[in-house]
Amino acid sequence: MTDTEDFLRLWDELAPIGRSADSGGYRRYVLTDEDATLREWFAATAAARGLEVTQDRAGNQWAWWGDPDARPGLVIGSHLDSVPDGGAFDGPLGVVSAFLALDELRARGVRPARPVGVACFADEEGARFGVACGGSRLLTGALEPDRAMGLRDGDGVELGEALSHAGRAPVAADPEALRRVGAFVELHVEQGRGLQDLGLPVAVASEIIPHGRWRLDFRGEANHAGTTRLEDRHDAMLGYAGAVLEARRLAASHGVLATCGKVAVTPGGVNAVPAHVTAWLDARGDEVGAVRAMVAEMEAFVAEHEGEMAQESWTDATRFDDALTARVRDAVRASTGDEVPVLGTGAGHDAGILALAGVPAAMLFVRNPTGVSHSPAEHAEVDDCVAGVHALASVVEELSR
Ligand code: GLV
Ligand code: MN
Ligand code: MN
Repeated sequence: MTDTEDFLRLWDELAPIGRSADSGGYRRYVLTDEDATLREWFAATAAARGLEVTQDRAGNQWAWWGDPDARPGLVIGSHLDSVPDGGAFDGPLGVVSAFLALDELRARGVRPARPVGVACFADEEGARFGVACGGSRLLTGALEPDRAMGLRDGDGVELGEALSHAGRAPVAADPEALRRVGAFVELHVEQGRGLQDLGLPVAVASEIIPHGRWRLDFRGEANHAGTTRLEDRHDAMLGYAGAVLEARRLAASHGVLATCGKVAVTPGGVNAVPAHVTAWLDARGDEVGAVRAMVAEMEAFVAEHEGEMAQESWTDATRFDDALTARVRDAVRASTGDEVPVLGTGAGHDAGILALAGVPAAMLFVRNPTGVSHSPAEHAEVDDCVAGVHALASVVEELSR
């Protein structure tokens, strides 16, 4: 059985990669040096276990135990990239737990009757190029390769250029790689306090609420902060400032969530009137109709204030496979002896993208004592992480009989 030392041995290998000394958070963005190091780590960790490592045309990595072309496999895993100054657990916990679950099964002499894979999805957070779950969306065809290749980062670098700079081929959908996935189970740190409040270590997921991202552009005219009279200014910041407050007001009135967490100001001088503000809105809610209504009112507001608003991504309400989730839940309950709650989430996941593409998918959540996520303060106790590995191993054993 995996113990604390086994967990920490593998976990600690990842700890320094992309960690900011200033914030203590992680900056692991796609197609950067940190990403290359993480990809090497994944390949080496798989190879050390004798797993066959492949990369699909969408840029996702896979490590297979057994021949994935013999019959559709059971896949576990998650992602290794992060949001700006993200926590250590969002993504990596699922990848590390997947390798350790396979170690545990092998140590127990379990021989799965179907291929078992560990997946590491590329660019789940979309922190650099803007589209969340880029790797799984490309894989399933939910993101057009041409659109992906033309996405730009904050410095204007296209994804296609970044790929060629990294010596990588253009990305594409990969139906052959997708066909190998008979079912996907993603273990993830909980991004809320559901388990903490219940006093339990592991849950299964029921659904992901609908969510999307929109880009906002406000144009003005650069001019001197000391010599331009207020009435002569065309200040792009004013439209944006109004939009932030409007998003908050509309979110409250529609009962949804709205976040304006990223903004870029041109020219970006303390003493220059802003000529252009680009910003992003993240909107989510329990009901598709409420999110859409909020966004429609927001679009009207932005247009009235001479701005533009364009959708960058959208993910519908996502229900995980009920039959698979029931089996996962039974397997976890049998292994931990604990009650296993069923929790919905407001966070997006590659498991959700696969579910929307028709792949039976399920998720396990591991307790997060504060519920904080997308922050350096994100945490899970090591004993709960080990409980998650045992739970995942039981799930793999049950689903690969
Ligand atoms: C991913 O973590 C998201 O929900 O934005
Ligand atoms: Mn995340
Ligand atoms: Mn995640």
